[in-house]
Amino acid sequence: MPELTVKSLYAQYLAERCGHSIIETDEGFATYEIDGSVLYIRDIFVIQDARRQGLASQIADQVCDLARAKGCTVLIGTIDPTTHGAHESLLGLLAYGMRLSHLSGALIVLKKDLTEVTDGHG
Ligand SMILES: CC(C)(COP(=O)(O)OP(=O)(O)OC[C@H]1O[C@@H](n2cnc3c(N)ncnc32)[C@H](O)[C@@H]1OP(=O)(O)O)[C@@H](O)C(=O)NCCC(=O)NCCS
Repeated sequence: MPELTVKSLYAQYLAERCGHSIIETDEGFATYEIDGSVLYIRDIFVIQDARRQGLASQIADQVCDLARAKGCTVLIGTIDPTTHGAHESLLGLLAYGMRLSHLSGALIVLKKDLTEVTDGHG
């Protein structure tokens, strides 16, 4: 699952306008921010035909690895319950080992300890 070398227009927009980082492959992407010891994966997306093959988990692993290398110890993810597929997204985050942290306005915030030794997922 090699990362794209040429960034999409969306990636360039995110970097210029918002300062967000992105990992893109042919089949999916994740946008993220690092703030001190906290990694926040904002959005993660895999094309429909490639779902349920572990790609989102692999992309998240890549982001977590580079965040760990920068000293991150905590992964944060959020679910907006009003969005399409929010229930499935929540199941995906829970399957990745994230756990409910708190509510922030309309968002459900989930958290994962990046220092934990895992069995391959994250
Ligand atoms: C959520 C999303 C990124 C998951 O991508 P994916 O590549 O299919 O995820 P994975 O294959 O790594 O899934 C890992 C595990 O998460 C859980 N999971 C993922 N999608 C699920 C779904 N639709 N229903 C139930 N569980 C799901 C499963 O436990 C799965 O393991 P399994 O397939 O062995 O049962 C993808 O469905 C997507 O792009 N959805 C639209 C955008 C979105 O909702 N993004 C997340 C919020 S920002």
